[in-house]
Amino acid sequence: MSTHPPGATIGIIGGGQLAQMMVMEAKRMGYRACVLAPRADEPAAQIADRWICGALDDAEAVERLAKSVDVITVDSEHVPASLLADAELVCPVRPSPHVLRTIQDRGVQRRFLEAIEAPQPHCVTVDSLDGLREQVQVVGLPCVLKSRQAGYDGKGQAVIRTDDEVEPAWRAVGCSPSMLEELVPFDAEISVLLARAPGGEMKFYPVAHNVHRHHVLHATMAPAPLPESVEDEAICIASSIATALEHVGMMAVEMFLVGSELLVNEIAPRPHNSGHYTFGACVTSQFEQHVRAVLGLPLGDTSLSSPAVMLNLFGDLWRDGDPDWTPILTQREARLHLYGKTEPRPGRKMGHVLLLDEDLHRALRNGEALLDTLTPSEHLVA
Ligand SMILES: Nc1ncnc2c1ncn2[C@@H]1O[C@H](COP(=O)(O)OP(=O)(O)OP(=O)(O)O)[C@@H](O)[C@H]1O
Ligand SMILES: [Mg+2]
Repeated sequence: MSTHPPGATIGIIGGGQLAQMMVMEAKRMGYRACVLAPRADEPAAQIADRWICGALDDAEAVERLAKSVDVITVDSEHVPASLLADAELVCPVRPSPHVLRTIQDRGVQRRFLEAIEAPQPHCVTVDSLDGLREQVQVVGLPCVLKSRQAGYDGKGQAVIRTDDEVEPAWRAVGCSPSMLEELVPFDAEISVLLARAPGGEMKFYPVAHNVHRHHVLHATMAPAPLPESVEDEAICIASSIATALEHVGMMAVEMFLVGSELLVNEIAPRPHNSGHYTFGACVTSQFEQHVRAVLGLPLGDTSLSSPAVMLNLFGDLWRDGDPDWTPILTQREARLHLYGKTEPRPGRKMGHVLLLDEDLHRALRNGEALLDTLTPSEHLVA
């Protein structure tokens, strides 16, 4: 099994914040990083040792990356698996093309979960508007339609509550092959964050409790206040998923908790937004852990140094100009992360704030109040 010593180069396909934080951790440990991304000003491209210009489906750029690095990883599951299969002929690719092929199509992902008997919401595939009308009768209202490919942050999703909403929902997913799922009346959303090494060793982080707004992650609190039996069950489900996929790297398994029942929502084969709390609140961040796993290094300690709340910072905060971050910077328990994105569009994840506090509800209230107090920065650069 290959272990890469410091000085080796990790290649990352994708230049977003997940890749950026992987690069930070890789460089801290003495590695080099080469990022393939369409633009030089993307968060990870800004700080990598090398940048290869290309879209995530640019075969020639992926080939160039493969020839110039020691191992390849991704910051998104939407890289075409066929390109990764070609790259794998040149250097190790972690997670493997097989993992991405299973996860990047929601229909294939759901069939895989069914095959390993992981609990999940009632769901069916839909290929046409007529098919959707029929299946809405089977699944029942309310339900949610999700495009099978390329969804993130709730994009390509539409909730259907009445028959009148069927056709608009079909248009909202671009009239493309989709999954129709029952709308689960969950009590809570959680995610199991784990890392799996090439030899099969796994480490688990404290289970995260996630609060979404409009289908997008707003806040994560860790550790989630779960009965031990539920936590054990969640970890057992996630570990059977990672093992069945022979995954290598970080993985997040998002789940709905309904009473004491768990249902798998989706799998992310990479560091995940709900694991950002680990960067500052755990001995080993999820980004360092991913780098360790894909380089074949021993996995790090996942213990929590302090309970933590993470709040996402969306582009909406830039509505009236660059915010003045003083209220966050002057709180001892708060840690500000900004990804260096140049275009603060509404709904775009621009950064996050981490708050360390024994009392998670107080931390959430404090964090939300802090965000409410942010006003435009008045500073002028001469
Ligand atoms: N079947 C469902 N029942 C109830 N709520 C749902 C269902 N599916 C999705 N949601 C809500 O929408 C959120 C986003 O859904 P999902 O995780 O499938 O989308 P996504 O676009 O892949 O999101 P991301 O990549 O940001 O995790 C969920 O976390 C949940 O709050
Ligand atoms: Mg999700």
